[in-house]
Amino acid sequence: MCGIIGYVGRDLCIPKIISGLEALEYRGYDSAGIAYVENKKIKIIKEKGKIANLKKLLDFNANTNLGIAHTRWATHGAASKTNAHPHSVNSFTIVHNGIIENYSELKESLIKKGYIFKSETDTEVACAVIADLYKEKKDILLSLNAATKVFRGSYALGIICADDKNTLYAMRNTSPLIVATSPSGNFIASDVPAILKYTNKYILLDDLEIAKITADNITIYNKDLNIVKKEIKTFEGTFEAAAKNGYEHFMLKEINEQDKVFSDTVNYYFDGSIASLKKNFAFLDKFSKIDIVACGSAYHTGLVGKCLIEKYASIPVNVEVASEYRYKKCFYDNDTLVILVSQSGETADTLAALRKAKSDGITTMAIVNVVGSSIAREADHVIYIKAGCEIAVATTKAYLAQLAIFSLLSIYLGYKNKGIKKSELEKIFTDLKKLPKLIKNTINYSELYFDIADKIYKNKQIFFIGRGIDYALSMEGSLKLKEISYINSVAYQAGELKHGTISLIEKNTPVIALATDTELIEKTISNIKEVKARGAYVIYVSNEEPREKFYDELILLPCIHPILESILTIIPLQLLAYKVAKNNKCDIDQPRNLAKSVTVE
Ligand code: AGP
Repeated sequence: MCGIIGYVGRDLCIPKIISGLEALEYRGYDSAGIAYVENKKIKIIKEKGKIANLKKLLDFNANTNLGIAHTRWATHGAASKTNAHPHSVNSFTIVHNGIIENYSELKESLIKKGYIFKSETDTEVACAVIADLYKEKKDILLSLNAATKVFRGSYALGIICADDKNTLYAMRNTSPLIVATSPSGNFIASDVPAILKYTNKYILLDDLEIAKITADNITIYNKDLNIVKKEIKTFEGTFEAAAKNGYEHFMLKEINEQDKVFSDTVNYYFDGSIASLKKNFAFLDKFSKIDIVACGSAYHTGLVGKCLIEKYASIPVNVEVASEYRYKKCFYDNDTLVILVSQSGETADTLAALRKAKSDGITTMAIVNVVGSSIAREADHVIYIKAGCEIAVATTKAYLAQLAIFSLLSIYLGYKNKGIKKSELEKIFTDLKKLPKLIKNTINYSELYFDIADKIYKNKQIFFIGRGIDYALSMEGSLKLKEISYINSVAYQAGELKHGTISLIEKNTPVIALATDTELIEKTISNIKEVKARGAYVIYVSNEEPREKFYDELILLPCIHPILESILTIIPLQLLAYKVAKNNKCDIDQPRNLAKSVTVE
């Protein structure tokens, strides 16, 4: 996600701002920029790519004591110099982290008023809204406060106004922003790492508050423009700890972000009505066959997607690994939609599969996290997940967000194809609303999963079994374990064990058995009893209280509509893998031999 830093004080601002921006690099970004006041003018310099590219354009000795800077993680519009922040309109210059959900309607009304936009960003629109309000109110604070009533969505804004060049303004809603105080002056920043080199004293800005900051003064206003007294906090810890928000690893931080990621992703396409899904997914109507093509965890989301789309929408779905698909004879035609799933949007095999389908004249759709990535740009249609920047190589929140998209697609297609009745749709929508809280609650059972991990982490092999959608989820649970703990693990269709694999089961061999599909639970329990009889240590993961004790450990999940259940099922598997790896002292965020994006064949 984007990074914001600003400074106003007695020192030259560029060195401080740039070092603060570099401290935010871990958040991931694709362009960077700075705005500062020099000789009573606001200067803006920005560049695509790394901060190093921006630094080449800067004079670090420029005589300026006030500035803002930004690293952009593209959400609206590709990664480019034009779309990089800061953006300016009339006397305002801003940097932004977040998503202004209603930016397109705001943009339309501003264009009618004669505003011309240079970029594709929601940020430039936000800047124009503030400038437009200022034209009428002639007061900066009143204009910023009025803007909080116009914007819908999330924002953290750093603001400079040409009519008040000694003051830095900041405001936020949902996206984090801190104000920090130091002997030389005051800062704003997306989070603590950016300012730790200069101070550990900071104020947490709350939603809809506005900060007015000069070299010697910080004034915070609430949504009614009353001055509020805020506690000055002291950050005790290292930069590394701050970047992880206090979590020991990025992977654990990202697992804990999943409730928000789920909400951000679902709310971007779904407002509570089937009409909103139709508005976003109607282009799917004409296809009667689907190929889902991806790699690794993204491939595993395709396996879940297949189960849901076939069950509810009765559309045949073929799921293939991209490295195979790109070379094989494909039996697609104009009725086929090829869906490419990719967190990075740069995976070479998936990109090659996309290009193959397109060269054969087949319609393609991408489900991608990184805005403006190659796969996103080249697909005929793109559905973005809103997972934010994912640092850990082992994907968790992006995987879950991809599951959320497949659930939404299955809901829409299932209802359209009469696989889901209106009464069932209401139950699904009710469960959709409950999910963020249920995700958080499921994560909060970490200690239970960690206790189980403490019992199995010394094993040399760990099996996962499941039927149907539970097999698809077992595949991801097994990959998570393998890639970060280096323990050999295999996922098997539960009914397949007796055809050979069961010979591998020894006394205390851990078998993680998933049974959340009520139509298959009894069958899976029979398979569990087969491995239990041979000495396996069974960890039973289900959403139904078992009537007998055929297991050694039980992980009981909330029971929600099956079209959504997978979103909860994966959470214990992520946390089990995390704790097993931690116990084995593995490099959890950067596992050996792995890259976050495999851009080679
Ligand atoms: C996920 O934990 C793995 N790191 C890996 O399998 C990954 O899912 C795969 O490389 C695909 O990456 P993509 O989603 O960026 O295309």
